[in-house]
Amino acid sequence: MGTKAELNKTDIFRVIYEFKQTHGIDFSNYAEMSFKRRIEHLLVSHNLSGIDELLQKIKVDPVYFQKCINDITVNTTELFRDIQVWLNLRRNVLNMFKDKTNINIWHAGCSSGEEVYSMLILLNEMNMLDKAKVFATDINTDILARARKGIFNSRLHHAYFDNFDKVIKVNPLNFEETKDIPYEKYFEKDSLNKTFRVKKFLRDKVTFKNHNLVEGSIFYKFDLIFCRNVIIYFDTDLQNKVISLFHESLFNDGMLLIGAHENISYLPVGSMFEPKIMKGLYFKK
Ligand SMILES: C[S@@+](CC[C@H](N)C(=O)[O-])C[C@H]1O[C@@H](n2cnc3c(N)ncnc32)[C@H](O)[C@@H]1O
Repeated sequence: MGTKAELNKTDIFRVIYEFKQTHGIDFSNYAEMSFKRRIEHLLVSHNLSGIDELLQKIKVDPVYFQKCINDITVNTTELFRDIQVWLNLRRNVLNMFKDKTNINIWHAGCSSGEEVYSMLILLNEMNMLDKAKVFATDINTDILARARKGIFNSRLHHAYFDNFDKVIKVNPLNFEETKDIPYEKYFEKDSLNKTFRVKKFLRDKVTFKNHNLVEGSIFYKFDLIFCRNVIIYFDTDLQNKVISLFHESLFNDGMLLIGAHENISYLPVGSMFEPKIMKGLYFKK
């Protein structure tokens, strides 16, 4: 199947059924059109003759199945993605944790780790890194391996350093003022390979683990949960289920941060949260 196939509802239903039946992974509540496009793309990129070949391979080969999971997830991310969010966290939110002895943080759907490392850098700048206990989870095992390594390509990711400058080098109380904080404080540059690597003292702070939000149950209690740009791929039933899991996983004064373009207020579980301070931030009621 060199060219793109147009799949119908029955094809998609068969794929979802097989994923669940053979491997217990349930995609039935993923947003339909986006899931359909990802499967169509998978058939082309894996050079498969069609749905039957895909289903046959999935049935007999769990390693191939995980590869399919890895290839259908959307992993777009960035260091200090949506800089306004990070400036707001720095100026208006994280100070609320100053008096706590511990801050438990969960990055759900962490992708290759940029969001996690952005947060750790920010906490370090605010002298709060020592208090932080950080879990970062994803369903994609390849992307988790990349996150653990913390190696980014400087040629592809030069925007990362612009974002770093805008969030970390400016004085949060006076944006006109800047401090010279060298990138080397947090990254080791490898000029030969044109990569930069997050320093070990930050990498060592994180427990990365494979966790599926669809099946997931509560595994710890948190002060702050990040789940940015993940629920956008779920239908409303699954969004409700996942946000309920977050509600249960938060301490009473805990907060949930979702993507700048996401919203939970219209969900039944949305009434158990109060939106506050900035777009995407919800306090547990
Ligand atoms: C677009 S990325 C968002 C990364 C980061 N939070 C950000 O905003 O930059 C979405 C991530 O959610 C993960 N994901 C999708 N479905 C998931 C599930 N059921 N359980 C856990 N992670 C999931 C994907 O593998 C992907 O890495």
